[in-house]
Amino acid sequence: PEETEAAAAAIEEENLAVKPGGDRPISTILIVIAMQTEALPLVAKFELSEDLDRSAFPKGVPWVRYHGTYKGLDINLVWPGKDTILGETQEPSNCFCQVNGSNLAFEAQSVDSVGTVSASLLTYASIQALKPDLIINAGTAGGFQARGACIKDVYLVSDVAFHDRRIPIPVSIHATVVFDLYGIGTKRTFSTPYLEKELGLKVGKLSTGDSLDMCPQDESSIIANDATVKDMEGAAVAYVAGLFSIPAIFLKAVTDIVDGPKPTAEEFMENLIAVSAALHQAVTEVVDFISGKSLSDL
Ligand code: ADE
Repeated sequence: PEETEAAAAAIEEENLAVKPGGDRPISTILIVIAMQTEALPLVAKFELSEDLDRSAFPKGVPWVRYHGTYKGLDINLVWPGKDTILGETQEPSNCFCQVNGSNLAFEAQSVDSVGTVSASLLTYASIQALKPDLIINAGTAGGFQARGACIKDVYLVSDVAFHDRRIPIPVSIHATVVFDLYGIGTKRTFSTPYLEKELGLKVGKLSTGDSLDMCPQDESSIIANDATVKDMEGAAVAYVAGLFSIPAIFLKAVTDIVDGPKPTAEEFMENLIAVSAALHQAVTEVVDFISGKSLSDL
């Protein structure tokens, strides 16, 4: 209906509004990454050091910040660390979890704090402490082959939305159910036409949810969101960045084909390391492009 289009146009206009300071050279970049495997190649590339004092964050949280200077840019790479209970342990044989009522011993290698809750908190705290000019959320994603995605493709994201926040409460403004719209949370990302042209990355829409797998309801929402890639953090990072009017761009590398024959978790694990290398390459090219430029040059 017309009203839905009007509401969507209003959201778009807000997202595209020119922010002050767009002509200043970009100085501080915040790179938000959910998994250690995705983060470490970039820590090495940019020669970042870990902030061992954890000075940017409250005491007790597992969040990790690496920082350094690269090509004139002050780079901060943050990841939410390992889960405080299920994360890496010295005594893997002492770990148990309950599955279908029985205790299972498991080898705890590494459980990163993935998902929207950790990503939101980390992005919030990092913005407060570091006041970045630009946020880059980089990570892996599932891709839809029906929309042209292939393993190792890296997408520059044009729009983000959530696919697992269904709120069918009939609160409407001019016949548009606004609670539903709030849940979906569609946002255009910061527009980077020059970057897009220069690097020739694929461009597509991203849908975010807190599950690696996909139930039929999520699938319908992802299709409604017109998404080519699905992840577990992007729209949450965009929400927090939007609260503080910080421009954010999203690079998502495809580890698994969601509408393909292989089980997602298996395909994800199989490709994680190789795809993290492709992601590292793309992030490096983006950061090289950003160096010496202002927001309006992107
Ligand atoms: N990250 C990598 N693959 C994913 C998938 N299929 N769904 C959500 N996040 C992912």
